[in-house]
Amino acid sequence: MKVLVVGANGKTGHHIIPLLKAAGHTPRAMIRNFDQRADMEALGAECVAGDLEKPLGYAVKGNWTVMMAAGSGSKTGPEKTTEVDFHGVLSLIETCERMNVRRFIMLSAMNTDDPETGPEKLRHYLHAKAGADARLRQSLMNWTIVRPGSLTDEPSHELLDIAPSLGPIDENTRISREDVAKVMVECMAHDNTIGKSFDVIDGKIPLKEALESI
Ligand SMILES: NC(=O)c1ccc[n+]([C@@H]2O[C@H](COP(=O)([O-])OP(=O)(O)OC[C@H]3O[C@@H](n4cnc5c(N)ncnc54)[C@H](OP(=O)(O)O)[C@@H]3O)[C@@H](O)[C@H]2O)c1
Repeated sequence: MKVLVVGANGKTGHHIIPLLKAAGHTPRAMIRNFDQRADMEALGAECVAGDLEKPLGYAVKGNWTVMMAAGSGSKTGPEKTTEVDFHGVLSLIETCERMNVRRFIMLSAMNTDDPETGPEKLRHYLHAKAGADARLRQSLMNWTIVRPGSLTDEPSHELLDIAPSLGPIDENTRISREDVAKVMVECMAHDNTIGKSFDVIDGKIPLKEALESI
């Protein structure tokens, strides 16, 4: 199955691409800088040009599934957060609808169900992500919203806590990017995750068992 990975060159995206390949899919890396092409191809992806701040029809066309793992990042200002994480992702969702994408797996964040209870410095970002999640929930695509705690670069443990809500973000609500990538790819094999939003952090339950409980 052709799977477009938006944010493929990001730290989580780098884990998603080989996992998709290993699961027998055809990963397509959406990149905005073709200097990244050799790296993406070495991971097993086809590359397509695309930028969330520009029209996306060319990049989205022909894909059955889209995984959204892009983000404006913590070093940009609030305008860029609104532009990329809200307007850019809305544009992606609406392009997917027009191009008959059937499955959309969103990498969101904990606390987007109630941004005002999140850390003050994250609230603008959480509102932007929450707005994009809300638009996705109105979509007729088969969507899943994965909401991790703080991302780390630690190795995967495949032991998680997953629930519709795991409370506000704190120093214990962490998860590795590799485990988030595994959860996103496993969602494709778990139709019980369709139409669901859930928080995910390091925990005690094996990954597949945790996903099956959703
Ligand atoms: N950091 C956390 O603790 C945390 C917690 C929960 C959720 N999240 C979410 O998890 C996701 C992935 O985080 P990460 O740390 O793995 O990402 P990352 O390493 O910061 O990578 C972000 C990716 O987004 C791409 N991107 C940025 N602006 C774009 C645009 N206009 N068009 C297309 N692509 C664009 C970047 O492209 P370039 O390579 O071209 O720059 C990069 O590949 C994000 O959605 C983030 O909001 C993060």
